[in-house]
Amino acid sequence: MTLLAIESSCDETSAAVIRDGVVLVNIVATQTKLHAEYGGVVPELATREHLRNLTPVIREALATSGVGFKDLEAVAVTRGPGLPAALMAGLKVAEALAYSLRKPLVTVNHHEAHLYSPWITGEPPRADFGAFEPSVSLIVSGGHTILVHVEAELRHRVLGSTIDDAAGECFDKIAKLIGLPYPGGPLVDKLAKEGNPRTYDFPRPMIRDETDDFSFSGLKTSVRYFLEKRPGLADDPKQLRDLCASVQAAIVETLVAKTVRAALREGVRCVTASGGVTCNTGLRELLAATCRKNGLTLRLAERSLCTDNAAMIGILAERMLMAGRIETDPDAECKPSWPLG
Ligand code: KG4
Ligand code: ZN
Repeated sequence: MTLLAIESSCDETSAAVIRDGVVLVNIVATQTKLHAEYGGVVPELATREHLRNLTPVIREALATSGVGFKDLEAVAVTRGPGLPAALMAGLKVAEALAYSLRKPLVTVNHHEAHLYSPWITGEPPRADFGAFEPSVSLIVSGGHTILVHVEAELRHRVLGSTIDDAAGECFDKIAKLIGLPYPGGPLVDKLAKEGNPRTYDFPRPMIRDETDDFSFSGLKTSVRYFLEKRPGLADDPKQLRDLCASVQAAIVETLVAKTVRAALREGVRCVTASGGVTCNTGLRELLAATCRKNGLTLRLAERSLCTDNAAMIGILAERMLMAGRIETDPDAECKPSWPLG
């Protein structure tokens, strides 16, 4: 089966061509630089940029893969959750394409696509569902922190999620307090590599709580008070590195402790992680070490597939088609708050 997938839920415009579980091409036009000067994603600018980028990105995906419109057997697109107008831009293009080609339109939940992205591996990337096993999965990005029990392919149960800020948002907001540009997560990661994570003791929010929910806004506030009492601390390069390492340790240790505890409690043997924050070196290393210690296998999404991309949308859409689960309707509205339920 050959299908074109489109993703435009936030600040990446992406198109991918999938054939029989193989990602033939995955083009991502990122808007990070555009939003950097505003310190966060500006929805109106994101939509304008999607409208500008969608056609060239789709053309490039088809040209690079050597696939023509006539070869497509389905069109897949993110229906939600995400920024309403940004979602609408991708959805309407996908709808028009599917309608004109007389092919099915498969509308996909963005989080569900993240959920299966750790099973896309290799070069060229391909779906490795032969190795699939039930898992506890962490989806951790700028907008979301969700813990999910994936009981079987296409069957999952949400265990918990953040009650306030997402982990990526926490990285970005703390980075801003420190004076680092947006998005701060990757910069904190870079600086943390040369810092001592035990220098400053920040809270590990809800780490011992019974629930699988997360909360990161208190950590951000605690760093703000800390910095208010120590003006100029972040101007010293060594202290800046130690601060980044200490902040990162607080976020990462919380994510890892809660994920592994949920996996052991749910009785699964596998842990997976995806979403932008899964690029974080500290998170990847601590998850690997803790899973090893507890006899759990770990599957992390490839770094290039951690952040938003159409390949994961297409791979999930193909599995949905194969399972006869086509979520399509002729007047598909986007679902900005579509829960992963
Ligand atoms: O999944 P994503 O591309 O977009 C959504 O939010 O949906 O994730 C972006 C988030 C940002 O908050 C960014 O700071 C964070 O992922 N991020 C990182 C790293 N790379 C990206 N956070 C910590 N360390 C990183 N290396
Ligand atoms: Zn995402």
